[in-house]
Amino acid sequence: MCGIISYIGDKEIVPLLIKGLKILEYRGYDSAGLCINNGQELKVIKRSGRISELEKSDDLENLKGDVGIAHTRWATHGVPNEINAHPHLDCKKEIAIVHNGIIENYVGLREILKKKGHSFISNTDSEVIAHLIEDFYQGDLTEATINALRCVDGTFGLAVMKKNENKIVAARRGSPLIVGVGDNEMFVCSDAAGILEHTKKVIYLDDNEVATITKEDYNIRDVYGNGIDKKVHEIKWDIGQIEKKGFKHFMLKEIFEQPEALENTLRGRIKDENIKLSLNLDTRSIKRIIFIACGTSWHSALIGKYIIEKINRIPVEVDYASEFRYRNPIVQEYDLVIAISQSGETADTLAAINEAKSKKAKTLGIVNVVGSTISREVDSGIYLHSGPEIGVASTKAFTGQVLAILLFSLYIEQEKGNKIDHSLIEEISRLPEKARMIFNDSEKIRKIADDLKESKAFLFLGRGINFPVALEGALKLKEISYIHAEGYPTAEMKHGPIALIENGFPVIFVLNKDNLTKKCLSNIEEIKSRGGKIIIVTNDRELEEVSDEIIYVPFTKEELSPILNVIPLQLLSYYIADLKGIDPDKPRNLAKSVTVE
Ligand code: F6R
Repeated sequence: MCGIISYIGDKEIVPLLIKGLKILEYRGYDSAGLCINNGQELKVIKRSGRISELEKSDDLENLKGDVGIAHTRWATHGVPNEINAHPHLDCKKEIAIVHNGIIENYVGLREILKKKGHSFISNTDSEVIAHLIEDFYQGDLTEATINALRCVDGTFGLAVMKKNENKIVAARRGSPLIVGVGDNEMFVCSDAAGILEHTKKVIYLDDNEVATITKEDYNIRDVYGNGIDKKVHEIKWDIGQIEKKGFKHFMLKEIFEQPEALENTLRGRIKDENIKLSLNLDTRSIKRIIFIACGTSWHSALIGKYIIEKINRIPVEVDYASEFRYRNPIVQEYDLVIAISQSGETADTLAAINEAKSKKAKTLGIVNVVGSTISREVDSGIYLHSGPEIGVASTKAFTGQVLAILLFSLYIEQEKGNKIDHSLIEEISRLPEKARMIFNDSEKIRKIADDLKESKAFLFLGRGINFPVALEGALKLKEISYIHAEGYPTAEMKHGPIALIENGFPVIFVLNKDNLTKKCLSNIEEIKSRGGKIIIVTNDRELEEVSDEIIYVPFTKEELSPILNVIPLQLLSYYIADLKGIDPDKPRNLAKSVTVE
């Protein structure tokens, strides 16, 4: 949420910052701005709206300097206009800051600072940081920033610069921030993607750490002033992975990438029918598993419950991370708490992990972004290796998560000394190919989308392991097409939602050929007889007659079926959004990586 990029070095600074911002735009796109020290003054240029608006500014021309900070905003406090856009300045216009996160005590701090004579321009919480630093400044920007940060409650990813000081000070608590180490140049960024073109060497800042960077060097301390030795990590992926590669949108590319992404999740993890996961965990002692996650990741956790309870017979609970953290949950030492997160930065999930750790539970992360905060906080982890997910709506991470959970479930059996179902292993190896087959129907799905795009609401229904798939289908549709959609267990539909059905109301059934097919058929008839339009996603070839539209997916084992069944739903949502003229990569009000509460 919100993206920061800052640079100190000899490269042309404006194009570098703008390009970095564009890569980070998925983190927020309400407004954007930058500040450059041009030698005489701090020059701030900001615009409401997308980075393309900022880019149009004539003021950017001929703007030179070797220190700059830039920001793309997802508004929390204050409407997304130009005044509230970052960077924010102090009274003397000598200190500029960009901030991600929320300063919870900003109202009190603002009152104190106002009494001391500071005047405020914006409605943001962030502006207090600039004035606080100004208040503490006595010749050393790092000292002043540390003193200011000791006064604030809340979260921050922060970059600060000052006129006449050739440095950037960066700090983190709760909002991700990395230092990029270049050759005679340094960067501060919310996400390695923003600086990958320039350096692959990064330092992940941890909470309460403050970095001071100059062109040649960096120094990292904690907010108590103690020096810290940090490891420099090498990023393993490259810039090509964050390009659209001919696809109209990242979301479409990421949907189509799923066969390879699934192969990557599997790579090296099944050998001679053995599951290879290097986990620092005794899985034999697990008595209960608690999944914590948000959004789409929460849906894969729900599928995880079906998989683990079926295969391992270990009781599983699934909690929204945001609820878990505040309800004093019952967690015991023999519980394993599994956090699922694409970004590895979701604030609620991170806080839930900390809650679990404080109760002495073992923690496991199922995370996509390597080096992310959650991956560093947990006792043990499984990376998805799905590659960077840029589209705001999660797609390939979801299917990767389900596969990773299944591998973990089989690993538990293996560690117990139980025989693993040979046919399931075989089916896993066929999964990427089966996923690829679904794309043969993408044109048909686009036509269905065209037919349904004016509908005012949708109902998604699924049973058992497909109930979470129905939830995910509904979430995908509403978040990118702004059409209201709800997911329900198929049979539950009679207990209320059926009242919505009228002529032409679209109801999407996600349905495996199994012992419940007949039951679902009755539900289909109940909707049909009330005029509902029946769209079925299924591996059952005998449902053509009862459907208005049918999308076939290849037959697979129940545990793997959500991975295949969700793909047509992702495509359907994508095409509906695109046909309605909505940018599915940047749906309104949303941002990828929700690092605020
Ligand atoms: C929906 C979506 C969100 C995320 C949620 C959790 O398409 O992307 O619902 O799934 O914000 O994010 P992560 O998985 O990064 O923790």
